[in-house]
Amino acid sequence: MSFLSETLSRVKPSPTIAVTQKAAELKRAGKDVIGLGAGEPDFDTPQNIKDAAIAAINAGKTKYTAPDGIPELKEAICAKLKRDNGLDYTPAQVSVGTGGKQILYNALMATLNEGDEVVIPAPYWVSYPDMVLLAGGTPVIAEASIQTNFKLTADQLEAAITDKTKWLIFNSPSNPTGAGYTKAELKELTDVLLRHPHVWVMTDDMYEHLAYDDFEFCTPAEVEPALYDRTLTCNGVSKAYAMTGWRIGYAAGPEKLIAAMRKIQSQSTSNPCSISQWAAVEALNGTQDFLAPNNETFKRRRNMVIEMLNEAEGISCPTPEGAFYVYPSIAGCIGKTSPAGTKIENDEIFATALLEESGVAVVFGAAFGLSPNFRVSYATSDENLKEACTRIQKFCAALT
Ligand SMILES: Cc1ncc(COP(=O)(O)O)c(C=O)c1O
Repeated sequence: MSFLSETLSRVKPSPTIAVTQKAAELKRAGKDVIGLGAGEPDFDTPQNIKDAAIAAINAGKTKYTAPDGIPELKEAICAKLKRDNGLDYTPAQVSVGTGGKQILYNALMATLNEGDEVVIPAPYWVSYPDMVLLAGGTPVIAEASIQTNFKLTADQLEAAITDKTKWLIFNSPSNPTGAGYTKAELKELTDVLLRHPHVWVMTDDMYEHLAYDDFEFCTPAEVEPALYDRTLTCNGVSKAYAMTGWRIGYAAGPEKLIAAMRKIQSQSTSNPCSISQWAAVEALNGTQDFLAPNNETFKRRRNMVIEMLNEAEGISCPTPEGAFYVYPSIAGCIGKTSPAGTKIENDEIFATALLEESGVAVVFGAAFGLSPNFRVSYATSDENLKEACTRIQKFCAALT
């Protein structure tokens, strides 16, 4: 009998972390590697937020808190949801966790039974299917195509829903594609959900504030108020506020579900870090002025990366609405051979060869459920991005 659980055998380690580790190993070995794998902004946490954390430490706010968040943060979250999304929630409908990841995990743990299905549009954030498996559910992957800029159509959603479907996990703007659904596109999906009253929506709005051009963010309960009673609106401060290390995420939804999530959290992590919670209060209530200049930087980088990748032979890269990722297709490179003799049979081989032969670390598309593609995170300096894209162009040009 194995010492390790059967549940564990169903999941795999995060491929994005594996790529980051491989790149770090090569760097340590003295190789010149540029990492485009990181899922976090290269900006520092804004000073007012750091100051709030320091003030919290000095004021002795260093003890256990209520399991799913201090009242001040819950109030700030309710105010944010009203201000940005037009959604009315009370503090009893809000749960704060140790990062967006724990919030999603708590919700799945609190609701899934064996046999329950969760519809996950692909390309998806790598953790969704594995979290569903850990919670005992069955991921049902609904593949979107590059032709619709990686957005799921109503027919695709309809086809993925069965009597066993418990949740749809929705993520816009998306990791890994950056795709953001317009209100009209989202309405087509919520119309499908109206026809299936047993299906709940877990919307992961983590990249809400990272949107470019004239894209207007929208979230399911806002677009279709009739879904309010079966929507869990999830968000966090990690990405927009450059607070990935602080580990604060949150969700709002029906009180019964929030209470169930609290029960899970109270028996696992007790509560998110007290100091980080006070920092998050400032993030949500304080100035939002840094968002616009940060987004200008991201937009400039996005445009440069797209232009340079589209100039690479065999690569085609759509323009996404948000986040800090692009998800180019390498269909034109498949079947070719690199100067070192690697036959590019799929996107995993492409990414490995690109790392080993040209020193650029990207995450291969199969990890996100749609091939042949790769993900570039442009949350790094212009200089790094320019050099990395030049290397990708040279690598592709040398394929025969
Ligand atoms: C789509 C998406 N949701 C959730 C998370 C998790 O965020 P956190 O760092 O707050 O746990 C990430 C982080 O990469 C993400 O990309």
